[in-house]
Order: sequence, then structure tokens, then C-alpha cells
Amino acid sequence: MLHNIFTIAQDAGAALTEAAASATAEAAEPAVTSAPIIDWATDSYLIAYLIAAVLFVVGLKKLSSPKTARNGNRIAAVGMLIAVIAALSENPIGINWWAWVFGGIVIGAVIGWVAALKVKMTAMPEMVALFNGFGGIASVLVASSEYIRGSAQGSIPSDTAFTIGIAILIGGITFTGSFIAWAKLAGKMSGAPILYGFQRSINAVLLLVCVIGSGWLAVQYDAAWWVWIILVISFVLGVTFTIPVGGADMPVVIALLNSYSGLAASATGFVLKNPGLIISGALVGASGLILTAIMCKAMNRSLANVLFAGVGTADSTGSAGTQGASDKVVRSVDVEDVAIMLDAAKQVAFVPGYGLAVAQGQHAVRDLTKYLESKDVTCFYGIHPVAGRMPGHMNVLLAEADVPYDELFDLDQANAELPRTDVVIVLGANDVVNPAARHDTTSPIYGMPILDVDKSTTVIVCKRSMSAGYSGVDNELFYHDNTLMCFGDAKKSLQGMLTALKEL
Ligand code: TAP
Repeated sequence: MLHNIFTIAQDAGAALTEAAASATAEAAEPAVTSAPIIDWATDSYLIAYLIAAVLFVVGLKKLSSPKTARNGNRIAAVGMLIAVIAALSENPIGINWWAWVFGGIVIGAVIGWVAALKVKMTAMPEMVALFNGFGGIASVLVASSEYIRGSAQGSIPSDTAFTIGIAILIGGITFTGSFIAWAKLAGKMSGAPILYGFQRSINAVLLLVCVIGSGWLAVQYDAAWWVWIILVISFVLGVTFTIPVGGADMPVVIALLNSYSGLAASATGFVLKNPGLIISGALVGASGLILTAIMCKAMNRSLANVLFAGVGTADSTGSAGTQGASDKVVRSVDVEDVAIMLDAAKQVAFVPGYGLAVAQGQHAVRDLTKYLESKDVTCFYGIHPVAGRMPGHMNVLLAEADVPYDELFDLDQANAELPRTDVVIVLGANDVVNPAARHDTTSPIYGMPILDVDKSTTVIVCKRSMSAGYSGVDNELFYHDNTLMCFGDAKKSLQGMLTALKEL
């Protein structure tokens, strides 16, 4: 693939160099007429793909910050439009097909626009799962069409036939896997891990059969039954790979499936010999894989543990803690008391978690910080990389309420400030502030980096009950001497604190 990209870059570069050289030569010897500097029929689309690739990379880079993410999306979309136009120009297909393609783009854009406007912040991972699924099935359909077309013409080169098998395999896994992930997250099926005997071995055998089938197609392209076998097995594998994963681990699987959808698209690009698809698919594949690795690292778990260990509960909002808590003392506090503490504080931190997204309390917390800042209290937000249910969940949530980006502290920044902080308000976060992760080797979250809220002077935990977070373990923070529980919906508690503060 890299070779292919470099070839494109070299071709385009050579064309430009040739153009520059010829222009200089022409200036010196204006009378000479020669062959066209650039053969626009063959080279222009390569330059278009190169421009599209640059736009994809710039767009991807801009996605790394909430401040620039919207523009990043737009830039990458323009890149894709250029790639589509280049692909259509490269293969003269007639005006009717242009209409079909652009009709599809318009219909897809409208559906995407409406879906993006309507989706709730807590349902984002479901939506991404569906997008991945559609990406997977698109690759399956394109690769299958190429197989049908090649067969009808009476020949398919070996490398293309093999790649068709692989594209169908990865696309099929992505399609059904994404729908299982969607169903688990949307509560359409139980989020509990489904485990059975020889699960991994059966999956490995099925995978091997598909690779052998693809090899067979390379040798004998007209063995059409292999295409059907690969198609059916890939759909089965998507299901069997995804069902052992617990509902709350699904965001990791979704990042992985996102990577698969990119790889499937890239493989389809090789089938079509389309550089735009190869490059964009490779970028999606690589970034999805990097994201998967980041999420696993932030949870201190290996990918194998996420995929095969069957960790996670069916209910992502958590059930009661598993450790007996009856002998421990919990102190609760009301919003009026919290307001008095905030009034006396010099530095206040807010630690958002999944519960803040459920409560939709992002505007309420912003209103409270604005008020505190107007009284010269320093405020910041401690953002844990896996707080919430998807990467960047808290950043996106708080960005919606126009929280200034410089107030969003990452794990290291926040942990440096927390020991100097008077009051920390934990908003619907649980696992990401559980000190057991630091010392309890028996805890399922042992080793996960956490926000050290317990090191601050006072911790206020806003949640509705004593129930556990996603990991299902009790949180020892709730019983610490410097912790006070403020029971209730996070948004209502924040609004109550602000009202009480204003009345002081
Ligand atoms: P959790 O540990 O899941 O805790 C969320 C808490 O929110 C619950 O304990 C719940 O307690 C509370 N809550 C729910 N609704 C609320 C409401 N309306 N108002 C106030 N509180 C409410 O969340 P976290 O601390 O954000 O940790 C995230 C977890 O998800 C981690 O274990 C992480 O490993 C896992 N995970 C994250 C990701 C990504 S990428 N973010 C991916 C996979 C897994 P009550 O029911 O008592 O209110």
C-alpha cells in the first residue's frame, strides 16, 4: 500500500517537476513544441488524489482537538468529494451514473445531518457503530460487484481475486459486528458477555477457512462458491467476535470495528485500483487502531482482555457495589452545605463522568463555574481519558456548553493540581476516581490510572445512590473521611448549588 501511495506521490511529483522543467526550457527556447507537459487524461486524477490525501491528513490532525475538530471534519469531507470526483472522472461512466452517485451523496448527507442533529450525547457510540457497519457492508457490496464484473468478463487477476476475498471478509465482520455492538449499547440485546466453549478456537478456524478461500480464489477465480462461503462466515464471525464482549466495553470494540471498516475500504481500494480509497481506508484503519490502543492503555487492560475476558456488566449505569459496605460510614451533605464550602474555596475542580452525560448537566456545571469565577475562585475540569462511554466523551459534552478549552485538564495536569484544590465536585463519575485502582491488586480496575480526587481537601460526590459504576465494584472513595456524598441527579444538584450560592 505504501508503495502504491509513494508511486502516486512520485507520479504526481514527476509530473510537476516535468512541468516546471519544461516551463523553464520553454522560457529559454520558446520555439520548441513538444508533447503535452502533463497528460491530463492520466495524471490529473493522480494530482487530485494527492490533494485529497493531504486534506484527509490535515483533517485528521485537526480532529485531535475539540477546538479544530469541526473544521477538520469539513476539510476531510472536501478531500473525499475531490476523491469521488477524481474517481468518476478517471472512469468515464456517463451522465446517468454521475446523477446516481451525487443523488446518493445528497440522500446520505441529509440522513447523516438529521441523525447527527437528533442523536443524544449518550447515544453517540451507537451511532458510530452504525456508521462503521454501513462502511463494512459498502466494502462487501463493492468487492462482490467487482467479482461479478470480473467473472462476466472472463478473467480476474490473482491478486485482485485474493483481495476481493479479504475485502469481503473484513467488511462482513465489520457489518455484523457493528450491529451487535449497536444492539448491545442500545439495549436491544443483553449487554452481558456471551461465552461458550472453544469460542476462540472456533473463531480461529473460521478465519483460517476464509483466508484459504481467498487464496483459492487467487488460483481459481471462478470458484464462486468460495465467495459465498467467505461472505456467510464473515457475517458469522462478526457476531461471534462481538458477543463475548461486555456491553460497557463496546466503545473499545467500536474503535476496533472502525479500524476494520477502514481496512475493508482500503482492501476494496486495491480491488478497484483506486488510490483515494486505499489512502482514506488506511488512515481510518490506522487511526482506529491507535484509538483502540489508547483506550486499552487508559483502562490498563490488554486488547485480548477486552475482547475475550468477558468483562463488563449488562447495565452500563452500574449495579450495586459488589463489596459489602454495611460496616462503612457514608456522610451525606445537601446542596446548601456544598454552597457554603464553595463560597469559602479558592480553587475548585469538577470531575465529570458518565452520570453527567446521563443527567445532561453540562450547562448547569458551566453556569456554576462561571459564577464561581466571577467571585475569583479558580476552576478547572479534570478529564479522564475513559470517563464516559466513548473516547473524548467529556470533552465533547463540555464543549457543547462552551466550557473554555484551557479549563479542561488532562489526567497529569489535574493530578498535579488536585492536592492544592479546596473542593472537588465529582459529577456522575465513579470508576475513574476509585483509589482502589492505585493499591488494591484484587480489584478489576487495579492499575487503571485515576484522577486523585482523594488528595484534595474536600470531595463532594454527586450521584443518585451508592451503586457502582461500569466495572461493578464498590468505590472506597465514598467512605473516606474527606468525602461527602451529595445524592441526587447531577444536573439538579448543580442547579441547587448555584441557587444556594446566590442566596448566601
Ligand atoms: P462510571 O464508573 O460508569 O460511573 C457512572 C456513575 O454515574 C454511576 O456510578 C451512576 O451512579 C452515576 N449516574 C448515572 N446517572 C446519573 C445522574 N443522572 N446523575 C448523577 N449521577 C449519575 O463512569 P465513569 O467514572 O465516567 O467511568 C467510565 C467507565 O466506563 C470506566 O470504568 C471505563 O473503563 C469504562 N469505559 C469507558 C470507555 C470510554 S472510551 N470512555 C470505554 C469502555 C469502558 P448512580 O446510579 O448512583 O447515580
